[in-house]
Amino acid sequence: MRIQKAAVAVGLGLALTLTGCGANSSGGSGGSGSGTAPAEGAVKVGVILPETDSSARWEGFDKPMLDKAMRAAGLDPDIQNAQGDEQKFSTLADGMISSGVKVLVIASISSDGGSAVAAKAKAQGIPVIDYDRLNLGGSSEYYVSFDNEKVGSLQGQGLAQALKGKAGAQVIEIEGAPTDNNATLFYNGQQSVLKPLYTAGTLKLVRSQPIEKWDNQIGGQTFEQILTANGQKVDGVVAANDGLAGAIITVLQKYSLNGKVPVTGQDATADGLQAILRGDQYMTVFKPINEEADATAKLAAALAKGDKAAADAIATGSVQDTKANRTVKSVLLTPQLITKDKVKTVIDAGFVKASEVCVAATQPACDQLGIK
Ligand code: BGC
Repeated sequence: MRIQKAAVAVGLGLALTLTGCGANSSGGSGGSGSGTAPAEGAVKVGVILPETDSSARWEGFDKPMLDKAMRAAGLDPDIQNAQGDEQKFSTLADGMISSGVKVLVIASISSDGGSAVAAKAKAQGIPVIDYDRLNLGGSSEYYVSFDNEKVGSLQGQGLAQALKGKAGAQVIEIEGAPTDNNATLFYNGQQSVLKPLYTAGTLKLVRSQPIEKWDNQIGGQTFEQILTANGQKVDGVVAANDGLAGAIITVLQKYSLNGKVPVTGQDATADGLQAILRGDQYMTVFKPINEEADATAKLAAALAKGDKAAADAIATGSVQDTKANRTVKSVLLTPQLITKDKVKTVIDAGFVKASEVCVAATQPACDQLGIK
């Protein structure tokens, strides 16, 4: 125990030296870089993101948006990605803890891995924020995310709307990682809309399949197996996010089914929005990650100062951790359903640039919808 404390003290000294010298523009983060030097005396905060293969969001939205929001809140963020590797996730956390971070923000690969890291940080007196994904059975005092059941119900609504009037339409569901609590919430939300339709025979479920680590490539392969086993027959696909949707659309293209079979999505990625404009994807869910990053930065700044009252004033919502049987103080933001006619709202919000969405194949749709 004494050795660990000494390591923390040494790490803190090092952090102060780095901050003080001002030469390292990303605060020693290894390139989380907005290029802005941390403010004088900025408090070091560690952020660990889970993967890159599961969604374009983590590197494309979360990393730059957290970096910007944290610097604006007077923090010095060190933002790393565990690349889907539990061991790396844990090693990154150990490094951040011994380098003297004042707060740890984790979007974990699995609840178990995230809970283990949270327990270690807690033992060192470092507050932990569960970012986007709640660690079931964990100990983090705060959670920042979206209303994830709502995300799922928007996906269910989107598909039901797209298949309206197609009696007995056959549906394949490609879901997220079984170790990600969000995937369960998305599924529950979808089923709140789809289950009654399956029960009534309005829609027919072919198969529902979770995908380990949300791996997009495996998602596509799994979808193809289910499709061929079903005699190449499918009328609609629940894809839990845009990454999975993209892999599924590639398979649909191979069977000349793209554009005929509605596919859901999530994250409002540039690729997802392009697929919607081409008519290959029916919808996505827009989660303004800048709001998630802002709330996290403000919460982290309050916790770094030890100002619990300020933190509680930000995290006014709550969720239930059913495994640890406890209530977690939360910020839960609102997701939006995006179909073709709404793509412009994502561009207008400044979330994705028109130039990333309007390419040769989508330019006619961009012109028609006034996206520029
Ligand atoms: C996030 C989604 C993301 C998925 C895969 C979920 O926990 O909420 O936005 O698409 O993980 O990375």
